[in-house]
Amino acid sequence: MVLRDGTGYLQGVLSRKDLPEATWERFGTLTQETSVRLEGTVRADARAPGGYEMHVADLEVLGSCPDFPIQPKEHGTQYLFEHRHLWLRSRRQVAIARVRHEVVQGIRDFFYDRAFTLVDTPILTGSIGEQAGELFSTDYFDLGKAYLAQTGQLYVEAAAAALGKVYCFGPTFRAEKSKTRRHLTEFWMVEPEVAFNDSSDNMRLQEEFVRYLVGRVLERRSEELKELERDPTPLERVRAPFHRISYSDAVTQLKDLGSDMIWGSDLGGDDETLLAQQYDRPLFVYNYPKGVKAFYMKENPDDPQTVLNNDCLAPEGYGEIIGGSQREDDHDRLLARILEQGLDPKAYAWYLDLRKYGTFVHSGFGLGVERTVAWICGAPHIRETIAFPRQIHRLYP
Ligand code: 4AD
Ligand code: MG
Repeated sequence: MVLRDGTGYLQGVLSRKDLPEATWERFGTLTQETSVRLEGTVRADARAPGGYEMHVADLEVLGSCPDFPIQPKEHGTQYLFEHRHLWLRSRRQVAIARVRHEVVQGIRDFFYDRAFTLVDTPILTGSIGEQAGELFSTDYFDLGKAYLAQTGQLYVEAAAAALGKVYCFGPTFRAEKSKTRRHLTEFWMVEPEVAFNDSSDNMRLQEEFVRYLVGRVLERRSEELKELERDPTPLERVRAPFHRISYSDAVTQLKDLGSDMIWGSDLGGDDETLLAQQYDRPLFVYNYPKGVKAFYMKENPDDPQTVLNNDCLAPEGYGEIIGGSQREDDHDRLLARILEQGLDPKAYAWYLDLRKYGTFVHSGFGLGVERTVAWICGAPHIRETIAFPRQIHRLYP
């Protein structure tokens, strides 16, 4: 039988002649996922998976397991997600959880080692961070509506003025109607913000960060990647420099590739996939049209129709894993953008203060943990990369 204790897998060997009759009979009643306590001798054996096996001398059943709902056969996706609480025990899900864990630890170590300060930003907020149409709201005492944070960015901008290099890392919420393989309604995002970094510095930091995370998984989680049947070759190619292409050049290239994309619209998922397929490692697309991006991005002084931002597109069809930008640091321009987008300037008075009291060039970005883990694992859908995914049609379990 195969044993799992949270540290790994071990083959248990029982031989009838060495066991008391009652123990042998108990062995006969075991079913998949029964919880047991064992005594025996662990021996090295080159033929055993993992190089060791346990010769069992005694066996106690702690929790029987009649008819475990997930059997070693094909189950539909819907069924598996209904049984997510049990499906988590399968080898593939265990491997994904460990890769995610490595990525999360890598995020913390990367920023700690570079003297960034972690600042925890609120989840209940009074202003819109990204997209008005994609907010979850809740009643908040006498103050009207509170929104679940779509981003911690505006708050880390305030913290960057105090601490220089900062980041926040937590769950964010978007009431997106998208049912794609890249969207969840609750996902984890890490958002560094750096005083005095411009847009080019920002891309260099992203490059170093993504390379570090991928390298760390390759180095420490190769067993898990093997379990996932993930070919490491494309991941080994993730080295600086990443390719850089302006939005305008990306549109030209996409048109040449047969896309009906026009200048001024955002890149759709299919466009991102098509574009990224032309390159052998992650790709930065920079300076998007102002009209499709958030109010806080800095206008490009060389071309006011665009902003100083970038997306980072993962290869192999995984699309955008990072969105980042230099921030509008001029008070009047920022106020104009807030008004233009129909946002309430009162809710942003504190954010505008940052431009009134000692403004400075600064930049930052947000990396989505689930999209990054899906890419590294080669998982077809990001919902497998979080223990209990939240989607429009999923709130259970
Ligand atoms: O591009 P986004 O919307 O950027 C921001 O939120 C900025 N405030 C970040 C910053 O500059 N501090 O989101 C950043 C990343 C995306 O690239 C993607 O990886 C992930 O967050 N993301 C999602 N992941 C899963 N499901 C969704 N619905 C997501 N929306 C964004
Ligand atoms: Mg984005």
